[in-house]
Amino acid sequence: MRRFAALVVLAALPLALSVALHAATTAQIPDWAYAIAPPPPPLAPGEVRPPNPAQTDTTLKTLPGSTKQIPRNRINGTTDWFPEDHPAMPNIVSNGRTGDPNATACSTCHLVNGKGRPENASVSGLPVSYFLQQLKDFRADQRKSAESRKANTNRMVLIAKSLTPDEMQAAAEYFGAIKWTPWVRVVETNTVAKMKSNGGIWVPIEGEGAGKEPIGVRIIETPENVEFTEVYRSTRSGVIAYVPMGSIKKGEALVKTGGNGKTIACGECHGPDLLGMGPVPGIAGRSPSYLGRELYDMQAGTRNGEWTQLMKPVVAKLTSEDLVNILAYVSSRPVAPAANATK
Ligand code: HEC
Ligand code: HEC
Repeated sequence: MRRFAALVVLAALPLALSVALHAATTAQIPDWAYAIAPPPPPLAPGEVRPPNPAQTDTTLKTLPGSTKQIPRNRINGTTDWFPEDHPAMPNIVSNGRTGDPNATACSTCHLVNGKGRPENASVSGLPVSYFLQQLKDFRADQRKSAESRKANTNRMVLIAKSLTPDEMQAAAEYFGAIKWTPWVRVVETNTVAKMKSNGGIWVPIEGEGAGKEPIGVRIIETPENVEFTEVYRSTRSGVIAYVPMGSIKKGEALVKTGGNGKTIACGECHGPDLLGMGPVPGIAGRSPSYLGRELYDMQAGTRNGEWTQLMKPVVAKLTSEDLVNILAYVSSRPVAPAANATK
């Protein structure tokens, strides 16, 4: 029996070793970037869930600077508080296509100006050819989440599959024409408020369970103003990204030099200021949670489109710590403010 046990241990050794080695040279799934919310607690017998104000509250709401008044339960991503901030929207962006539940209005998640939210993606200011290539990859099942519970990425795949060529072109041109402007404020810190995932976005816990905890090897992105982001779906109120002390500087070295072959200097393809170059998308000043999921998905192989091949050697050797450092720097990179608007 003891001999058998020893044999089992010996047989498992190479596997254990390779797992340990793999873990040492690649990243662990960055749970902070996916922010999967736990399922709601089961109801006790006879208990009813309290009504959700987002569905039942008809109080008229307005945002500072907007002339509109909208009942709370009618507010969602398609709400256009500031029509003066963006060009005229094609129908697929503002309303979606009636008759096909998968042809959902893009603004529902990406907002009317394409700023997006940490739990989905920013889509404004992307090169048209890059935007179309991504839709092609979703449609071909070459772009999925490494975290199968990431429900909105699964939805994005269905949405891409439902679009007509004209709709894809119209959405790509509309969002591509809107400049990417400042949206993410990066703050270095040792500690961060304890957070809960509100359907994929971190918000500070209030009341019972509130407090601070060490940030560790994580980036925690949360709204500048929880009410503006969560209740109003404001297109003018951005996010704060808390990053570990010293991470921006460490990331800068990797991004600029490639860290002695650990990765490849990002500017070679994303442009010297990381604002994009030709068909390669800009990454400066964008959501580190989103960018982090993408780098991890590429390393894990679930994002694996035609153009992703160029990113393979970039991500192959990155550890969890490298990811955090690189993203802290990339997201802190300046973006030119909009010439006319306040944001
Ligand atoms: C249900 C929410 C939702 C809706 C509605 C939605 N998307 Fe998305 N979209 C996402 C998510 C989530 C991602 C990030 C996917 C990932 O994890 O890789 C995404 C990513 C994208 C990307 C890739 C961005 C990049 O930087 O690579 C494009 C392009 C895109 N969406 C286009 C659209 C278009 C066009 C529409 C409207 C027809 C649309 N989306 C509607 C959730 C949505
Ligand atoms: C050899 C060229 C090249 C280099 C070097 C490179 N990239 Fe990329 N990157 C690309 C291309 C091409 C894409 C589009 C990939 C796709 O379509 O899946 C991309 C996509 C990305 C994305 C996803 C963007 C989005 O909107 O979804 C991120 C994040 C990214 N790169 C980060 C980096 C970082 C960080 C570095 C440096 C450490 C880097 N890249 C270096 C070519 C490059």
